[in-house]
Amino acid sequence: MKQRTCAPVAVALLAVAAAVGGQAEESPGAAIYYACATCHGERGEADEARMTPAIAVLPAWYSAAQLRAYRNGWRGAESDDFTARKMTLFAEALASDEALQAVAEYAAGLGDSLRDSEPSNAAPSPSGPPDAVTKAHFEGCASCHGANGEGIEELGGPPIAGQPAWYLNRQMDAFSRGTRGSHPDDRFGGQMRVAPTPSDPDEFAALIRYIDSLPRP
Ligand code: HEC
Ligand code: HEC
Repeated sequence: MKQRTCAPVAVALLAVAAAVGGQAEESPGAAIYYACATCHGERGEADEARMTPAIAVLPAWYSAAQLRAYRNGWRGAESDDFTARKMTLFAEALASDEALQAVAEYAAGLGDSLRDSEPSNAAPSPSGPPDAVTKAHFEGCASCHGANGEGIEELGGPPIAGQPAWYLNRQMDAFSRGTRGSHPDDRFGGQMRVAPTPSDPDEFAALIRYIDSLPRP
């Protein structure tokens, strides 16, 4: 069943890679990324209409880990979560670990070119500078995600700066419902799942608005 659903995607990825690979000296990652760009865009920026996060801000180690998480069914396994299922199909269609790593590295490189052309996407915070409560909540997040939300590889904490509020909310919801981070082998997802988050809805919303306003790492 799973195999049958994946086949057309796999064929599409192979076809794209073959078509592109035949032409220029394009890297394998770049050739595979053509298929990703349908949803993630050429620049890997966030797009709410497609529900895609900003993958250009993500380092290769984290994108590769998430591609494996989708492939392993740790993330996106819920049959009625069509948004995450899209990713599962594409992660499963990656032919090998080398292909997975190559496309993760290519996507991370999109961030470098973005940084060269536009240093930051800092949005003015709609509520002004964070109040003491928001700051205190963010310090909790910063212990794993970095003082500016730039990510801490050693702790498995990805950059959260540079992601829009709607995506942050969607992932926080997935962690709290356990559709992300609850697989026993998903060590880093499990750590995020038990991380303390504000229980007051207004404080939670203020924290998300603040993260949304942080400059792209
Ligand atoms: C059909 C649309 C679609 C295609 C094609 C697609 N993605 Fe995605 N991708 C998504 C969506 C939607 C999400 C967010 C899913 C969620 O909320 O769980 C996502 C999430 C991701 C994430 C997780 C980001 C994070 O912050 O955790 C990575 C990494 C990623 N995609 C990489 C890729 C790569 C590499 C490819 C090509 C091999 C690809 N995607 C192809 C739609 C797509
Ligand atoms: C104990 C360490 C830890 C703390 C504290 C923590 N996180 Fe995380 N967080 C992680 C790890 C590790 C991941 C990556 C999980 C994975 O690999 O799937 C993560 C993932 C996330 C993601 C998903 C990012 C993406 O691109 O999909 C969001 C959003 C997030 N954290 C927000 C927060 C917020 C907001 C706070 C503070 C309220 C917080 N985290 C506190 C460790 C932590």
